[in-house]
Amino acid sequence: MQQSKKPGIWYEGIEEGLEIKIVKKLKLKNIMKKFNWPKSYEEPFAAYNLPNWIKNLGVMSDTHIPYHSMWALTEAINYFIVKKIDALLLNGDILDCYMLSKFNPDPTKRHFDQEVIAFQEFIAVLKEALPGIPIYYKLGNHEERYNKIMILRSPEFLAIKHFDFENVLGCNDMEINVIKDQRRVYAGKLPIYHGHEVNLKSVSVNPARSLFLKIHASALCSHLHRTSQHTEPSIKEDVVCYSTGHLGEEHPLYARENKWNHGIARIRLNEDGDYKVINFGLTENKLFIV
Ligand SMILES: [Fe+2]
Ligand SMILES: [Fe+2]
Repeated sequence: MQQSKKPGIWYEGIEEGLEIKIVKKLKLKNIMKKFNWPKSYEEPFAAYNLPNWIKNLGVMSDTHIPYHSMWALTEAINYFIVKKIDALLLNGDILDCYMLSKFNPDPTKRHFDQEVIAFQEFIAVLKEALPGIPIYYKLGNHEERYNKIMILRSPEFLAIKHFDFENVLGCNDMEINVIKDQRRVYAGKLPIYHGHEVNLKSVSVNPARSLFLKIHASALCSHLHRTSQHTEPSIKEDVVCYSTGHLGEEHPLYARENKWNHGIARIRLNEDGDYKVINFGLTENKLFIV
């Protein structure tokens, strides 16, 4: 007798035509023995589903404030205005958290308090340009620097809500929906990652293909700073992965020569959660064709 993946269902043997016959449905509660396991700190993990009224979602990421690209941001927001998006997803690495980096940050550069102010100014601009549009902010690996440095240097303050990253930024007051703990986001049926959650490292060929190799399902990610698409044909339906470009500094000191491009995406959705991804690079004043 073998147990199926569904709890409480047990199979015995395989009948003709490879049909599996359910011979017994056992109520596990009644037959399970109890054991005295040690206390478990296992935590539940659930995806974050964007509201299903969203039909035209703007996606932008990797602004790395205060190292954002002014022209790319301007172009991105103008595009979202023209295309009348009904919600905006900030898909990680919005703040650089430069001074919180473990890579020996230069103390003469911008400090975290200045980044916080710059972030609030950035949100104010978004709200003015896209009035009434809800903003969802998924934290990326750069934002996670905050918690890492808290653990390292100020663990006493970790449990104090006031010092949570989103509270320090004032996200509540600005009515920004923060998505943290590396939760997978769903826009309809499309899973969205920042990219670090599935351990995407910098790649030299096709970032979208790297995403495919990690999850073997259709999805979208940011993080690798390059617009790309990978289609994996299958006999059922094609699996299509996307990676979006960035909106930050083109040639930062830590990656002077790179294969990055500026870019954003827009996701059209229908009632059933089916989607169409419009994913493209920004090339200064050439955007209104998509
Ligand atoms: Fe990034
Ligand atoms: Fe990232």
